[in-house]
Amino acid sequence: MITNRPAESTHKGIQLLMPIIEVGNLSKIYRTQKRLPGLAGAVQGLFNRQYTEVRAVDGVSFNIEEGELVGFLGPNGAGKTTTLKMLSGILYPTSGTARVMGFTPSERKNEYRRQFALVMGQKNQLWWDLPAQESLFLNKEIYGVSDADYKETLEEMTELLQVKHLLGIMVRELSLGERMKFELIASLLHRPRVLFLDEPTIGLDVVAQKNIREFIKDYNRRTKTTILLTSHYMNDIQALCDRVVVINHGKKIFDGRLEAVVERFSQAKLITVAFKNGGVSPEQLAAFGKVLENTKVKAVLQVPREEVKKASNEILSRFDVDDINIEEVPIEEVIEKVFKGGESS
Ligand SMILES: Nc1ncnc2c1ncn2[C@@H]1O[C@H](COP(=O)(O)OP(=O)(O)O)[C@@H](O)[C@H]1O
Ligand SMILES: [Mg+2]
Repeated sequence: MITNRPAESTHKGIQLLMPIIEVGNLSKIYRTQKRLPGLAGAVQGLFNRQYTEVRAVDGVSFNIEEGELVGFLGPNGAGKTTTLKMLSGILYPTSGTARVMGFTPSERKNEYRRQFALVMGQKNQLWWDLPAQESLFLNKEIYGVSDADYKETLEEMTELLQVKHLLGIMVRELSLGERMKFELIASLLHRPRVLFLDEPTIGLDVVAQKNIREFIKDYNRRTKTTILLTSHYMNDIQALCDRVVVINHGKKIFDGRLEAVVERFSQAKLITVAFKNGGVSPEQLAAFGKVLENTKVKAVLQVPREEVKKASNEILSRFDVDDINIEEVPIEEVIEKVFKGGESS
């Protein structure tokens, strides 16, 4: 059984519980050289360099407590990977602060490196031409994991992820899902206290996605490892994370419980009505809101939040209703609309 130490820091003899991850006004601007095409560009570049700036992360702040599993959500290009790279010390922030377990990641202290891991779904970190087992063994050596710990972790993880029988297979011959499982194992051998997972289920089939998802959830519960996870699959986020931090265009737009996303961004609810004796004309229904579906037996209406009560009362009194149901718009749809920057309904 793997456990991690609690995040405590002693300050003047008092034990303070500090957030394990502290991000304050963190920004990253990428500067790339603008070049005109051809010789003119090359010549001009010598004398007068022009740069294009991409504000990838723009003043983001959040704290994460030890043991939390937080979803980091945002559309493509929102700045998620850039943030995780800054938290891992791969990238230097342009401004602002990042502290993880009291370390400043960009200082790249070995002591820090031994206590966190970054797994990127789109990047292979294992040795391509080695059997999985040897790739894992190299990681053990790099991190100075003891033989006993290695054996125990390997045994447990390969069992949980059902990849024991694949230990002898070359990494490049594994399926994407199998490889991802070994990537996870490799990153957990040194039992990091903080784990950054960047799209760990990207491109995987549904079964592998589910396996990995369940493993992450269980691992977080058992070991209290702090996990910050990005995924653009809402299934992952919904299954794993109570709390989400949402970013768009490099800015944080939401931080809180996942269900609260709907309350915050969705201005409508869905009313589903089942009719007793045949349907109602779309014109009659349109008076209450947007008609999403309308058959002889059932209609689905999208009604502004503040009008739901009045609308349902009127529907009940006006039509021959068998059943009526009021629901929130699915989180997935709400988030999608928020990302598109359009009117969230
Ligand atoms: N090395 C880089 N040089 C220039 N721009 C980059 C670089 N990496 C990412 N970007 C840009 O920064 C923004 C954020 O990218 P990224 O952090 O990868 O977003 P996400 O992981 O949310 O998809 C995007 O506009 C992307 O094109
Ligand atoms: Mg990314």
